[in-house]
Amino acid sequence: METDPKIISSLPKIELHLHLDCSLSLEVVKQLRPHITEKEYNQSFIAPDKCTDLATFLRCASSGIELMQTEEELRAVVKDLFVQLKRDNVIYAEIRFAPLQHLGKGLSSEEAVEIVAESANDSINSTGIKAGIILCTLRHYNEGQSFQTIKLVERYIKNTIVVGFDIAANEAGYPIEAHKKAFEYAIKKDIPRTAHAGEAKGAESVWDTLRYFKPQRIGHGVRSIEDEELIDFLVNNEIHLEICPTCNIQTDIYKEYSDHPIDFLYNSGVSVGVNTDARSLVNVTLTEEYIKLANVFGWETEHFYKCSINSLSHAFITNDAKEELKQVLLSRYSTYFVKKIA
Ligand code: HPA
Ligand code: ZN
Repeated sequence: METDPKIISSLPKIELHLHLDCSLSLEVVKQLRPHITEKEYNQSFIAPDKCTDLATFLRCASSGIELMQTEEELRAVVKDLFVQLKRDNVIYAEIRFAPLQHLGKGLSSEEAVEIVAESANDSINSTGIKAGIILCTLRHYNEGQSFQTIKLVERYIKNTIVVGFDIAANEAGYPIEAHKKAFEYAIKKDIPRTAHAGEAKGAESVWDTLRYFKPQRIGHGVRSIEDEELIDFLVNNEIHLEICPTCNIQTDIYKEYSDHPIDFLYNSGVSVGVNTDARSLVNVTLTEEYIKLANVFGWETEHFYKCSINSLSHAFITNDAKEELKQVLLSRYSTYFVKKIA
């Protein structure tokens, strides 16, 4: 298999699960806070390789969020992320963030969304990367905050690159009740939905999420393997899992990379895709994630192609846009296994 990092790096990639506020490079942090040292950056913006749990991991996100409270800061962070994506050969990304986390210095939630969407558009134009924005509610939010977030999606999905709705943060500490109303509204309005689940909690949490939020995709969802019936449901209903393997090792769902169920899920016929979740917090690129999959599970270009197609099929974009991106994937991947693709 091609484990040559140069080849893996050059493969066109699709990333559906990527948190803006957890993906600040050293360069952008230095731009915004010139006195920060590399050591301070490593301590504050990168989570330890092994956290006790998801809650501990998520606490490390606060440094990034603190740095994203003004228009200038938000614009810089968006621009920086596109630079990282370009280096990783990402051709389509869905970038998520929770607008209500960026109101600390006087921005309104509308301004936060408009600034991120406009900056992303600027970077789309300058880099050629296609992208959409997903707005997140958070597990610990109350019903009003969650509803405010879905109303933002409804407003901006019409004429900006906002494409969908998500729920993130600590699944273990906070049940779904406060968010049912927002997701019911999203369902009624036919707003594309994904939801973090099956990460800090097991299969029952995934079932609840599927039952009440009816998402097209699940963020992580890896603990679905704890229930065979759930795996069948995911396959039969074409629910896509946005898998972020290194992040799951970091939050200690699995001890070692080799314990991760991505290969099992792939072989079970579940639609899986590969993502970083958070480029600074997890300290990984998609290229590095692919290399680990190749080294640990023997994944080959066919696996990466299949995962990219799975992600693309479940992206919150039009069929025409999917077809265009598929041609980009095909043109590069066909070098490696032209007969099988044909
Ligand atoms: N889970 C929930 N919320 C998050 C995560 C995660 O892995 N990463 C960033 N926000
Ligand atoms: Zn996530």
